[in-house]
Amino acid sequence: MAEGRWSIAVHGGACRIPAALQAPRREGCAAALQAGKMILERGGSALEAVKTAICLLEDDPLFNAGRGSVANADGEVEMDAGIMDGATLAVGAVACVRFLYNPVEAAHAMLREPPILLVGAGAEAFATARGIAECKEGIRPATHDGGDHDTVGCVARDREGHVAAATSTGGLAGTLAGRVGDAPLPGCGFYAEDGIGAVSLSGDGEAIARTLLAARVMRALETKGAGAAAATIFDPLARLGAEAGVILLDRDGAIGIAHNSPHFAAAYAREGMDPVSAIVWKDHHAQ
Ligand code: GLY
Repeated sequence: MAEGRWSIAVHGGACRIPAALQAPRREGCAAALQAGKMILERGGSALEAVKTAICLLEDDPLFNAGRGSVANADGEVEMDAGIMDGATLAVGAVACVRFLYNPVEAAHAMLREPPILLVGAGAEAFATARGIAECKEGIRPATHDGGDHDTVGCVARDREGHVAAATSTGGLAGTLAGRVGDAPLPGCGFYAEDGIGAVSLSGDGEAIARTLLAARVMRALETKGAGAAAATIFDPLARLGAEAGVILLDRDGAIGIAHNSPHFAAAYAREGMDPVSAIVWKDHHAQ
């Protein structure tokens, strides 16, 4: 695997972000980026960097993941998270968990297990047995002061050339209890493979899953640059009339961002460049 510079990108949701929430969400993305960046700067792994960045976003009630998760139709929180190690192709994911502060920690622990995905009580028992913190009364739905609200994610490349991706969500507000979207499904809400790149998505989970959007982006990364690969989300989304956003890294750590939602909260950094944290607007592409 080619060694080289580290690289990292995070997102805090592809959605409409009211003006009053844009600065706090930008700052939340910047804080998560900084946490992951510090790990990479010190020679840590891409996997550790994405897990750490996602934990921060799950702890921030401004984002729809962990403590900021929205309510389903029963007024309950059900969270999904997935993580992937591009070096080994190990996948860990949990879905429909209600009692975990940090679903991504449980997903990370799943990387060492044969199953790739556990749901509900089984996932929570697995996490508790491994000492992962649980909220005994269940995570309560966040009360957000306006605006859509969707999903967090992170992709990273470390100096050894390994890549990783993670995505975590409180799902879509008001959906049926037991509904699972794209976030814990590899090839849908996330994917990572050394030598190709890493991708994390946010948006309409059913559309992302129906179009295997992460898999499409990974296939594009085999032959296209980061910006062009990111833009491959537009046609499948247009076909279904859906909204989403993507962050990705190519094999060398070049960053791509694209979305067709009104806004997309994102932050990114590469070794040797100043970090950027922004609310990007529709039709903006970054590379
Ligand atoms: N993209 C998150 C979800 O649809 O659940």
